[in-house]
Amino acid sequence: MSDSLSIENYLRSVAGRIEPHLAALADAHRGHPRLAAAIKYALLGGGKRLRPALVFAACEAYGGDPADPLALRFAVAIEAIHTYSLVHDDLPAMDDDDLRRGRPTVHKAYDEATAVLVGDGLQSLAFAHLLASDDARAPQLARVLAEDAFLMVEGQARDMDGEHAALDEAAVMELMRTKTGALLSGSVVAGAICAGVPVNEVLERIRPVGLKLGLAFQIADDLLDLTADTATLGKRAGKDAGAGKSTIPALVGIPEARRRAEALLEEALAALAPLGPRAEPLRALAQFVLSRKK
Ligand code: IPE
Ligand code: IPE
Ligand code: MG
Ligand code: MG
Ligand code: MG
Repeated sequence: MSDSLSIENYLRSVAGRIEPHLAALADAHRGHPRLAAAIKYALLGGGKRLRPALVFAACEAYGGDPADPLALRFAVAIEAIHTYSLVHDDLPAMDDDDLRRGRPTVHKAYDEATAVLVGDGLQSLAFAHLLASDDARAPQLARVLAEDAFLMVEGQARDMDGEHAALDEAAVMELMRTKTGALLSGSVVAGAICAGVPVNEVLERIRPVGLKLGLAFQIADDLLDLTADTATLGKRAGKDAGAGKSTIPALVGIPEARRRAEALLEEALAALAPLGPRAEPLRALAQFVLSRKK
């Protein structure tokens, strides 16, 4: 599971598991056909499906069954929340992007009002889907999802602040912990809760590992914006500097940013080391956070 080919296979199988449920979510809500089509366009436009993969891999790593139906429900729900965050992130009022996952953004393929409503709709559908479970742990997971989805919004607000004023390093770290760390750590947290780890222990011991992965992931995203090309990324490269974004590479330079991301990954891997072979997929996903090309 440690080479890049097998992580590709793992992610492909995760996509194969969740995408029928994402399609069903859109198909079950067809009251307004154009809105439903836009929701489907947003949900099924590719994407690495990293957050669902983290849910399943964390569930397995902490001793659970990765086929747990509640883990699957959470994985679908968090991918819907993540998709909403991207649709709103791309709006002219925010990052003003026209390309996402190699295709026109939702507000370009449809229109701005529809893109706002797609995000709003996805947020509701995510919670309806999760809470349709009859598993007694579903409300607990809905609370994790709600709190982390709100932190993502707070992070987006900090990101917007960072366009108008240069944030210092501590502020950028807090920006990344919220805007990106919350949904990545939420995925790991939910997987561990599904595995039966007591919630207090998950929040104290496991959430920090997910946050480190989230920080490393966002530094990698900011590095890719500077170093990769638009065709590979499937989104416009080189936009952050032009928008005056406050990022770690902007503050400390590319080589030092890479070292910081590697150090965060090492810390996360050290925490996962005692878990043995069942944590192989989670360790491979952790490596992928930095090795990815898009
Ligand atoms: C992009 O997330 C947004 C960030 C948090 C940087 P991903 O890189 O996971 O996007 P998709 O889902 O694969 O398109
Ligand atoms: C967005 O961060 C994180 C979200 C909460 C959506 P970015 O603005 O850097 O993500 P990309 O680069 O557009 O995918
Ligand atoms: Mg943004
Ligand atoms: Mg953006
Ligand atoms: Mg980015």
